[in-house]
Amino acid sequence: MQSNFGPPELAVSAAAAAYSAQAAALARRLELPLLATGIDAAECAAAVALLIVDDRLLRVQLTGRGAPGPVLVDFGSAGMRHRRASGARELLGRAVGQGKKAVLRVLDATAGLGRDAFVLADLGCEVLLCEREAVVVELLRSGLRLAAANGDAWLAAVVERMRLHHGDAREVESACLREVDTIYLDPMFPPRRKSAAVKKEMTLLQTLLQPAADPQDADALLLWALRQGTARVVVKRPAKAPSLAAQQPSHSIRGKSVRYDVYVHRKL
Ligand SMILES: C[S@@+](CC[C@H](N)C(=O)[O-])C[C@H]1O[C@@H](n2cnc3c(N)ncnc32)[C@H](O)[C@@H]1O
Repeated sequence: MQSNFGPPELAVSAAAAAYSAQAAALARRLELPLLATGIDAAECAAAVALLIVDDRLLRVQLTGRGAPGPVLVDFGSAGMRHRRASGARELLGRAVGQGKKAVLRVLDATAGLGRDAFVLADLGCEVLLCEREAVVVELLRSGLRLAAANGDAWLAAVVERMRLHHGDAREVESACLREVDTIYLDPMFPPRRKSAAVKKEMTLLQTLLQPAADPQDADALLLWALRQGTARVVVKRPAKAPSLAAQQPSHSIRGKSVRYDVYVHRKL
């Protein structure tokens, strides 16, 4: 993830001296440079973005004046709570087959910042979140840890249904895959030309992960998922985008800006 010229793209900094050991351990784990404690992201020229460690949530902050706010995984935030009331979550639940069996097991093969996985877990699914990018895994781990410990019984119960796996979804053991009812894929970042409308999280993730976000990679992921023999595979697509890998779904569930392509292999 590091460029040969100019500042490294990502570096780690502790928000205060009390977290410097934690920050040093994180920098070692991710093989990233460790910068001074308490560095001001607005004035930092040594990295494009900082991973900031404090006692609450790990966050990624773009450096420079006027940079947007940090990206973090806060499952208890007002935004996440607000999503509970949105119709969009019902569409996702219907697409994966929630309600068709007592406990639906979903493999979220492209976990990202875990929002879809959280919605599914809140609907009652058991969710295995696969994420291959180490930095994103650290954000997720931090979010899951805080949610489990913050004293909110609802939040703790939801994250209890979420398990995190660091690695490519295609490397999940077959014994584990046999337990899965539905594989869920959201591999695509919105195209760059629409970036003005894209949320800041996605813009930052795109900046960090763009080399890995190759459309053919997404096609290959769907073809892999369709070979696994799970009852369903669901793909989230921009509303007007073609189906992945030119595979016609059994049916699609359409929202305003997204569409879920549902590939049904057998009844749940
Ligand atoms: C568009 S984001 C997913 C956003 C997510 N649905 C959410 O609600 O936050 C796609 C993520 O999938 C990850 N990814 C893509 N292909 C993967 C694979 N084969 N295995 C594991 N993770 C993958 C990327 O690193 C990226 O973080």
